[in-house]
Amino acid sequence: MDKLIIEGGKRLEGTVEISGAKNSSLPILAATFLSREPSVIKNVPQVADVFTMVKIMKSLGAKVQHNGNTVEVDPRNVKNPVLTYKLVSTMRGSICFLGPLLARFGEVQVSFPGGCVIGQRPIDLHLKGVRTLGADVKLEHGYVVAKCKKLKGTRVYLGGSFGSSVLGTGNIMMAAALAHGKTVIDSAACEPEVVDLGNFLKKMGAKIDGLGSPSIEIEGVKKLTGAVYSVIPDRIEAGTYIIASAMTKGDVTIKNIDLRMLGAMLDKLKDAGVIITEKNGHARIRRERVLRPVSVTTLPYPGFPTDLQAQMMAMMCIVPGISVITEKIYPERFMHVSELNRMGANIMLEGHSAIVSGRKTLSGAPVMASDLRASAALVLAGLVAEGVTDVSRVYHLDRGYENLVAKLQSLGANIKREKE
Ligand code: EPU
Repeated sequence: MDKLIIEGGKRLEGTVEISGAKNSSLPILAATFLSREPSVIKNVPQVADVFTMVKIMKSLGAKVQHNGNTVEVDPRNVKNPVLTYKLVSTMRGSICFLGPLLARFGEVQVSFPGGCVIGQRPIDLHLKGVRTLGADVKLEHGYVVAKCKKLKGTRVYLGGSFGSSVLGTGNIMMAAALAHGKTVIDSAACEPEVVDLGNFLKKMGAKIDGLGSPSIEIEGVKKLTGAVYSVIPDRIEAGTYIIASAMTKGDVTIKNIDLRMLGAMLDKLKDAGVIITEKNGHARIRRERVLRPVSVTTLPYPGFPTDLQAQMMAMMCIVPGISVITEKIYPERFMHVSELNRMGANIMLEGHSAIVSGRKTLSGAPVMASDLRASAALVLAGLVAEGVTDVSRVYHLDRGYENLVAKLQSLGANIKREKE
């Protein structure tokens, strides 16, 4: 296993380019299976979750060529719609095969994914969705076994106790694209990654209205074609570099960014004293001399994203004053708290909120990451801590950040990767 060694205290300066969105790429790659024709997906980040996706697609019988940031999928020979526990347990996002495989083959078996460190990850909304479209769904020996003759369009309400579901909306949108008649998804997720998937489906010939709103209408079609499509930039990666620049008192220009997708976060950062300017489609991040504490509550889009909660907390650790960070999507997503405290932060957990008493500095320490975004938060903390921080279990970061070490090095960070 590899670890990252970071010597804190370097100001980040320069230009960094954001990669394609991981959380768009995964369902879009699964959606290619809705057609019998090849598709070409561009701007796909080279991250471990994408490599896993490619492995799964090949194991299902597809021909896949993966060159750099382009993935060509020929799904003609996909035959065996079974996703084993071994495949699903390495990446929970593989649940997004449920809708497309069911719609194309009339049957699918997907291993039940179970929980993970960021909390329970139920799939009841996915199952409710395909059942409402007419599938017979059983849970057998740890597998979801879904069958249907022909899915039928209808009205589906997809709101859950924690709001809408991103991959749930994606799954039902994909299934409904080939269903008979019209489907309306109420309480649909409005995340840009859902819009991106919908735009890819439209390029394949799907008829979809209302993307980006809580009510999506899909008129089923008989078949979908292959398509060439380029994935949107990764708003969570962009948000992570924005925070990195602000924390290190840096001056970083970010290319391939869409600031419209980061409204809630930018609003909070401006309140904190971060200066964000846009020119020729690039964003420049600077900050006022002293930052102010801000309180944040994560919510479904367009609210503050849960995937930037840990990084925002890392920043608040070095802003004197009290900030309260409340998690409303994954109420247990606080695994980074104890590790940040090991670095000298002062964070107290109170229910689903973290109360951060910011101080001037953090102190470098060996820390262990528990999930992708928690790991990113520890890297950010390491960039500003006094002394050396070792972040172990780098494989979490590999799942979602393309070339993280090289990108940070190019901005002047003192960071390297080593075998543990
Ligand atoms: N939920 C249910 N029932 C369901 C599905 C979800 O109760 O059937 C709950 C979840 O437990 C959670 C909330 O609804 O409390 C939202 O979950 P959602 O379904 O939206 O999450 P997801 O689609 O499984 C995607 C991202 C996550 C991101 C969430 C929320 C991918 C591959 N994953 O997961 O990304 O945190 O949306 O925005 O798209 C990450 O990139 O680090 C990551 C975890």
